[in-house]
Amino acid sequence: MNILITGAEGLLGSNLCVLYSAGHTVYATGRNFPSINRCINLKLDILSPSDICQIVQIRPNLVIHCAALTNVDYCEEYPDDAWKVNVEGAKNVMIASQLSQSNFVHISTDAVFDGKKGGYDESDEPKPLNVYGKTKHEAEKIILATMPSATVIRTNIYGWNRKQKHSLAEWMLYNLENGISFQAITDLFFSPLLVNNLADALLEIHSVQYHGLLHIAGECCSKFQFAESIAEIFKMDPSLIRQAMMDEIPFKAPRAKNMCLNAKKSAALLKTKVYSIREGLLQFRSLREQGYINELRATA
Ligand SMILES: NC(=O)c1ccc[n+]([C@@H]2O[C@H](COP(=O)([O-])OP(=O)(O)OC[C@H]3O[C@@H](n4cnc5c(N)ncnc54)[C@H](OP(=O)(O)O)[C@@H]3O)[C@@H](O)[C@H]2O)c1
Repeated sequence: MNILITGAEGLLGSNLCVLYSAGHTVYATGRNFPSINRCINLKLDILSPSDICQIVQIRPNLVIHCAALTNVDYCEEYPDDAWKVNVEGAKNVMIASQLSQSNFVHISTDAVFDGKKGGYDESDEPKPLNVYGKTKHEAEKIILATMPSATVIRTNIYGWNRKQKHSLAEWMLYNLENGISFQAITDLFFSPLLVNNLADALLEIHSVQYHGLLHIAGECCSKFQFAESIAEIFKMDPSLIRQAMMDEIPFKAPRAKNMCLNAKKSAALLKTKVYSIREGLLQFRSLREQGYINELRATA
């Protein structure tokens, strides 16, 4: 199968490229020219009409749209940029996928919810609190209204980064391994999923031809509980983790308190088992032990 990934140098995109290239032809595309091993690398800025045309020429079986502006505080400060990339960019990739008759998977987020309730399923009404969430919700609405064969996945992820940038789990682990004390929020809940686990689920979704909106997420926990679990799995000193309340942290963009997703629908649909926090972190640890990070960071 031919798979085209946007945002190929990002957290999710790079992991999908590396994992899928073991069994498929993968077009790794990025705003700047990516260089992912075993992939066909292409510069594809999702805001450039001429770059976007490449999707139509390639006619991939599957397009997974991972490119986005994901820094929540940056989006708050630069809303025009966020709307362009997260809404217009997503629309461009969707239209190209329609023209090339490719299956289109759009990656969305738990940040479309206001966090007052938690345990959100696909029928709950989004009410985003910040610009990032608003742009992601707008893209979802456009895609679901105009491309019935599209799949929109809401999730929350962690994993190993290809770039010198830390996902939440990497940042917590870095602090723990370097004896740096850090704050972890006790009243902010999320349902993080290891990207490698999501990669398997996304391929299965394609094979069962699911269309529409779907939540794929891990176990619900607070950021503090997540940090404690990392300390336990990696056998680090948990006293480095200091409890903090969300109100104590001066975020630029407002944050939702309980963003946990109810993923019962995908659990019933898919054979791919979603890891518990503990299983996911054990796998996260074992990936490093097996040299997966070197594979992820290898250049073409
Ligand atoms: N990380 C999470 O916890 C999380 C949670 C829920 C949902 N998601 C969603 O999952 C998807 C992937 O997230 P991620 O964590 O992998 O994000 P990421 O690491 O920030 O990667 C996003 C990628 O998009 C690229 N990009 C930005 N503007 C672009 C443009 N105009 N054209 C082409 N590429 C562009 C970025 O390139 P540069 O590096 O050049 O900027 C970056 O490589 C996103 O849709 C995000 O909203 C993520």
